[in-house]
Amino acid sequence: MSLRIALSKGRIFDDTMPLLAAADIHPAESPETSRKLILPSTCGKVEFLIVRASDVATYVQHGGADLGVVGKDVLLEHGGEGLIEPLDLGIAACKLMVCGPANLDLSNTKRLRIATKYTACARSHFAASARQVEIIKLYGSMELAPLTGLADAIVDVVDTGNTLRANGLEALEHVADSTARLVVNRVSMKISHELIAPIVERLRAAVEER
Ligand code: ATP
Ligand code: PRP
Repeated sequence: MSLRIALSKGRIFDDTMPLLAAADIHPAESPETSRKLILPSTCGKVEFLIVRASDVATYVQHGGADLGVVGKDVLLEHGGEGLIEPLDLGIAACKLMVCGPANLDLSNTKRLRIATKYTACARSHFAASARQVEIIKLYGSMELAPLTGLADAIVDVVDTGNTLRANGLEALEHVADSTARLVVNRVSMKISHELIAPIVERLRAAVEER
């Protein structure tokens, strides 16, 4: 029986590969060039599933994958049901922030319009301080929303701040810190503990050695 690890291409993939290599887990084909969505590993004990970043937690929750690597931002938005989060991989570090024009008053009593793909996080962030907001769901290019009048502000991830600066926006309020986490399906952890536990420990050692 082989274990399935859900990964997304892009920054999480690039940063996760060296950690998996240190744990002696290698894809048998290059994920850069292959169009396959299930990639075997050289040891034959692991398969990689290539999914969208925002789908990793869902695959692992429902047992489509046994393990996954996912941003804490995505995990917070997902809710974490059915998942164990044994390890902070310390990669893909960013912050979930409320961002908008520098002069925007977020404590204004008017009902703010917030555009975001993190609708649950945005809702609970503003609810925690009893502020009324209208949430507008977007899937990308969030920075456009305040520039076009679609929304007053956005909730999005910020790393260098370059995207905000390039679009004349600022980070106004902190929502959450995020790094990529290893997640494991709760049931898989029980029934495949002998296979999963050594992988978690090898990854932990690789993270500590980095
Ligand atoms: P999807 O394809 O599902 O829409 P995505 O485009 O957000 O997702 P990535 O850009 O690869 O996918 O981001 C994956 C994860 O990396 C995010 O969930 C977040 O945790 C982190 N991340 C996103 N943007 C940055 C950034 N600019 N710097 C550092 N980490 C980031
Ligand atoms: C993410 C995020 C911001 C940007 C922030 O976008 O949505 O736009 O990174 O990073 P910075 O602070 O270093 O500029 P990404 O590059 O992932 O593009 P996408 O989410 O629109 O696909």
